[in-house]
Amino acid sequence: MMADMGCSSGPNSLLVVSKINDVIDEASRSINRQCPQFGVFLNDLPGNDFNALFNLLPAFKQDLEEDKGSSFGPCFVSGIPKSFYRRVFPDKFLHFVHSSYSVHWLSQVNKSHQNENVPRGLVSENGEALNKGNIYIADSSPEEIHKAYYAQFKKDFTLFLKLRSKEMVSQGGMVLVLQGSFNSDNPDSIYELLGSTLQDMVLKVTN
Ligand SMILES: C[S@@+](CC[C@H](N)C(=O)[O-])C[C@H]1O[C@@H](n2cnc3c(N)ncnc32)[C@H](O)[C@@H]1O
Repeated sequence: MMADMGCSSGPNSLLVVSKINDVIDEASRSINRQCPQFGVFLNDLPGNDFNALFNLLPAFKQDLEEDKGSSFGPCFVSGIPKSFYRRVFPDKFLHFVHSSYSVHWLSQVNKSHQNENVPRGLVSENGEALNKGNIYIADSSPEEIHKAYYAQFKKDFTLFLKLRSKEMVSQGGMVLVLQGSFNSDNPDSIYELLGSTLQDMVLKVTN
């Protein structure tokens, strides 16, 4: 059983599944064993376009059969619309978890679930924005902003790992690909560029 958490809905979503299939197929052949059956769970938020993803499945299955023959798998693919900051699977269920470019997304989990994606501390007590002109940590961001994003990431990532640790079998594998910066004094400039572009667009609309 394997899961791709934050799979999105483009061709990338199935690319990772086919890479994992390749590895298992090759490993099974090398030890002369029948390839195991697969359960693949594609997880994303409920707003993800799962229909677009499911529409890619017939071609994906056909390619798989042509490439690996009918003795491969079978590979059962399902969509799981739920935040990965919640329990998504039963205890000791998954053998492998993959997630790429998804766990660095902000997701503040509070009781009402109303306010996801906004870390506490970006707005002062009287409602004033503390990170004006930026959409993430930037050179001009005050110290509190660095702290607010760091605290939020720490909370979210710890929760993600805690939840998955319950859902995975012991000795299961996990591959996470995420973006980050080693040094909070040297923030990722892509977000500064994106922030100033968004600001220009807003100014154009409002002027
Ligand atoms: C940048 S896309 C990455 C897509 C794909 N994994 C890739 O590598 O191309 C990030 C995905 O993470 C999903 N995501 C963000 N927060 C999530 C959450 N709390 N639970 C599940 N999916 C989430 C988003 O909806 C989005 O589809």
